[in-house]
Amino acid sequence: MPAPALGHSETDTPLRELAGGIETGIGLYVHWPFCLAKCPYCDFNSHVREAIDQARWRKAYLAELQHIAALTPSRRLESIFFGGGTPSLMEPETVAAIIGRAFALWPVAPGCEVTLEANPTSVEAKRFEAFHDAGVNRLSLGIQSLNDDALRFLGRTHGRGEAICALECAQRYFPRHSFDLIYALPGQSAKSWRAELGEALALGASHISAYQLTIERGTPFFGAHRRGVFVLPDEDLGARLYETTLAALEGAGLFAYEVSNHAKPGEECRHNLRYWRYGDYAGIGPGAHGRLSIGEDTLAVKTLRSPERWIAAVESEGHGSESETRLTPGERIEEIVMMGLRLKEGIDRARFRRQAGGDFTDILGPRRLRRLIAGGFLTLDDEHLRATASGRARLNAVVLELLG
Ligand SMILES: C[S@@+](CC[C@H](N)C(=O)[O-])C[C@H]1O[C@@H](n2cnc3c(N)ncnc32)[C@H](O)[C@@H]1O
Ligand code: SF4
Repeated sequence: MPAPALGHSETDTPLRELAGGIETGIGLYVHWPFCLAKCPYCDFNSHVREAIDQARWRKAYLAELQHIAALTPSRRLESIFFGGGTPSLMEPETVAAIIGRAFALWPVAPGCEVTLEANPTSVEAKRFEAFHDAGVNRLSLGIQSLNDDALRFLGRTHGRGEAICALECAQRYFPRHSFDLIYALPGQSAKSWRAELGEALALGASHISAYQLTIERGTPFFGAHRRGVFVLPDEDLGARLYETTLAALEGAGLFAYEVSNHAKPGEECRHNLRYWRYGDYAGIGPGAHGRLSIGEDTLAVKTLRSPERWIAAVESEGHGSESETRLTPGERIEEIVMMGLRLKEGIDRARFRRQAGGDFTDILGPRRLRRLIAGGFLTLDDEHLRATASGRARLNAVVLELLG
């Protein structure tokens, strides 16, 4: 991943306010594992099925929700995120039932963020009003590109025109919305990417997730790339494209609050911030993950990945958990550091003391910290441990060095 920019920004105050409920609250992730077609680059837990019995699925989600809420009584629900797969293929009635049940099971934070990921096709855009009425208040649109050739290359079922229509429709119902773009595509230049970002901004984006295309093992792109069917930008061009992203988006007031996520102040995705700040979240649906603090422990919960196995388990046992593991202190610290250094704000020192049971210097080792600070990869002050731009350019190596 190329170097993201760091430094203080206008986002500092609202982000700090948002951190309020990170330790007392909880987020809920709902995984919908179905798509109309499988994109050749995607290794998410998504499947194509001819028919889906939505009433049966609805019942299963509600059952698993009940199970997970019993493990986390009286936590304040701060956010819900419907991810996939393609959750915009869920019946709005299913979405409404899950939101309603979650709101009944936990006390709900004022302004609880409810995000749903949607593919930008006309079929799905027709449901946006119903999703809004179901309680969704933030939409994340998988536009991926504003260029028809790139969309064809990515195997998407929508074109540029359809994506723009879907975005306009989304804007009618969701003042808080975001869209995903994928860059570093074959033949892409910094100039063409800058122009595309300019178009995205002109469409009124206040939150953009811009991901560099990664080639995942087991996908059709993996084999095609190995056979030389297409060539990706080299590391230098990749870095330049990332710098282009930062310059174009920061110039328009969208700050890179995380490596790939850019937002106007206040528009950050609160649910995802919870992951990076190592707050608790529950996950329901096939292949969902959760992190729950129970007393002094952190429980890592993982559900069965296969949709068929998950629903059969829920129907027979009331939940589809594959494993519930207590993380060792070392594993917990590793996760806190790996997630937290992705954020521009870095890791909050007081929170780290509470979550990790000691200060950065005690836990990470003063010598290692000094070495990485002297090398210009990290900064440490009374309030935060942060990765510098150079540290973020080699985040994996920095984390490895830090954790020994
Ligand atoms: C799990 S997908 C779900 C969103 C929705 N189904 C869609 O495709 O629009 C979330 C996002 O991950 C990104 N993504 C998935 N695979 C990727 C890859 N191999 N490289 C870069 N980004 C990827 C895409 O931008 C996508 O919108
Ligand atoms: S990218 Fe989105 S639509 Fe495509 S297969 Fe993955 S989850 Fe489904």
